[in-house]
Amino acid sequence: MKFFVDTADVAEIADLAATGLLDGVTTNPSLVAKAGRDFKTIIREICALVPGPVSAEVAALDYEGMITEGRTLAKIAKNVTVKLPLTWEGLKACKTLTGEGTMVNVTLCFSANQALLAAKAGATFVSPFIGRLDDQGLEGMELISEIRTIYDNYETLSTQILAASIRTVNHVKQAAMIGADVSTVPPAILKALVKHPLTDKGIETFMADWKKTGQKI
Ligand code: E4P
Repeated sequence: MKFFVDTADVAEIADLAATGLLDGVTTNPSLVAKAGRDFKTIIREICALVPGPVSAEVAALDYEGMITEGRTLAKIAKNVTVKLPLTWEGLKACKTLTGEGTMVNVTLCFSANQALLAAKAGATFVSPFIGRLDDQGLEGMELISEIRTIYDNYETLSTQILAASIRTVNHVKQAAMIGADVSTVPPAILKALVKHPLTDKGIETFMADWKKTGQKI
């Protein structure tokens, strides 16, 4: 499974990119607002740091506007992935932009039928939002499972499932077990993936015992 980080904080991205484990980045208008910097500058900086797909979301809601904004964003760097909302206008724009060779991430997916449409529109990625479904008392992970089943039923559907709105380390594990192609994870959750108390305890014991040997490597 590929790991994307879900943030518009360039310093955090630089930190995580240094691990060599980062396959891409997703941003959204709320994350850009939180960063409080110029959107296109942020995307340019992220694209220079991470060679993988970097999602940049359009603000327009109509087809023409999405195409204009999508083309502008795509010009920033080769690895820009234009993020479009899962609406008829967004799907139409997805078809056009992918036809021009631009990667597209169709976002705000909350049903398997929406994901089926995104794949038929040629989306590079579809983003089902797990956490926001959980927030409604639903089982977000079931959606990942349904989409995996549907996409696996049809060889012609090559859209990658990008598990989004990830809130816990358990979400990452479950998405990987189901076979999501990508998880986009907030930096804090990504960092927490490495943590286990028994790893810390084990290191402590090994280091104490190693000291007793009086040796150097
Ligand atoms: C994905 O591309 C979105 O930016 C993100 O995962 C949304 O997560 P949230 O529901 O925690 O805001």
